[in-house]
Amino acid sequence: MQAVILVGGRGTRLRPLTSTMPKPIVPLVDRPFISYMLEWLREHGIEDVIMSCGFLATSVREVLGDGSDLGLSLRFVDEPDPRGTAGALKLAEPMLDERFLMLNGDVLTDIDLTSQIAQHEATGASATLALVPVADPSAYGLVLLEDDRSVKEFLEKPGADRIESNLISAGAYVLERSILDLVPADRKVSIEREVWPRLIGKGLYGFPSEGYWLDIGTPARYLQGTFDILEGNVRTGLAKRLGGDWLAVDADAHVHGRVIPPAVLERGVCVAEGAHVGSLAVLGRDVSVGAGSTVERAVILDGTQIGEGASLRDCILAAGCRVGARTQISGGAVLGEGVSVGADNVITRGARIFPGVQLPDGAIEF
Ligand code: GDD
Ligand code: MG
Repeated sequence: MQAVILVGGRGTRLRPLTSTMPKPIVPLVDRPFISYMLEWLREHGIEDVIMSCGFLATSVREVLGDGSDLGLSLRFVDEPDPRGTAGALKLAEPMLDERFLMLNGDVLTDIDLTSQIAQHEATGASATLALVPVADPSAYGLVLLEDDRSVKEFLEKPGADRIESNLISAGAYVLERSILDLVPADRKVSIEREVWPRLIGKGLYGFPSEGYWLDIGTPARYLQGTFDILEGNVRTGLAKRLGGDWLAVDADAHVHGRVIPPAVLERGVCVAEGAHVGSLAVLGRDVSVGAGSTVERAVILDGTQIGEGASLRDCILAAGCRVGARTQISGGAVLGEGVSVGADNVITRGARIFPGVQLPDGAIEF
């Protein structure tokens, strides 16, 4: 079976991580984010994937190539200007089979696609939307179902007065090619606002799922997704790498301090004496952690250097950052690529520091 993945969004809410690279290739634990989605698809027998990524196509293509490393074939569709969720699909029409999957490219999930496809076939649906429960449906597409799982109502970004259920569209659909007849060509079209409402009563079904599901679009959710992968709350290929002791420490990492699982330490990592790493820590390639420092519930990407006696908790540091001695970073703060923070700073409360910024010693207590 075939799948189309939509990844045309700009990922602005994940800045500064997405200031220097598109969201699909932002590293999540040990691989580009979109790889989790591709591995999940392949597990369900999908080997032919079409990526609709508009202006991002070049850099995504450079990282993923033709998909052969992941055991699938990857093709890219060009989009002259952002066409919206249905418009982007329309552009892929010449490449599509009679039945295919369509996926929003910004979710971490292990929904059982095989069962979803089976339900689609059993009901003879023209579109079957995977559904998951969330605490607050207002930022999503709310779906109300009849007893036979046909969709009674679809409300994109519903107002508080319309929220009668907690089931939302997970952004994973099984579709018949015929639904493209409802999509005008050559203009921006939203599948949520223009197609689903018109398909109600004409073969639109929901598939309530019990799988793991998370939209990783904000720093807080990026950290949550990282922790859920490390803890095995979502089924991913990383479980194998972590093994029974929940630790993946590369043979070429030098650990003189203590590592508390679950944690991932890549090649060239150096943890000095008296330093504590974990639990729930990811240290990318060549990261160094100075003597007596603590890194806990945090993601530190390639090449970042942390001085002595520093404390990093609940934060994300992009590649190539420098953190001076005794500096404390916490509270969901995010440092963009190449940020340099001198000694004795305190950065917290969700601060976002943009790529390349340099803060001298003792400059900030926020
Ligand atoms: N190629 C292309 N072109 N892709 C696009 C475009 C476009 O013009 N617009 C959005 N996308 C991609 C985004 O990159 C993302 O992967 C996906 O389509 C959905 O767009 P979002 O902007 O992330 O939408 P959302 O999160 O507000 O809502 C959607 O997802 C929810 C689940 O996370 C809707 O489908 C909701 O109904 C759904 O509940
Ligand atoms: Mg989204």
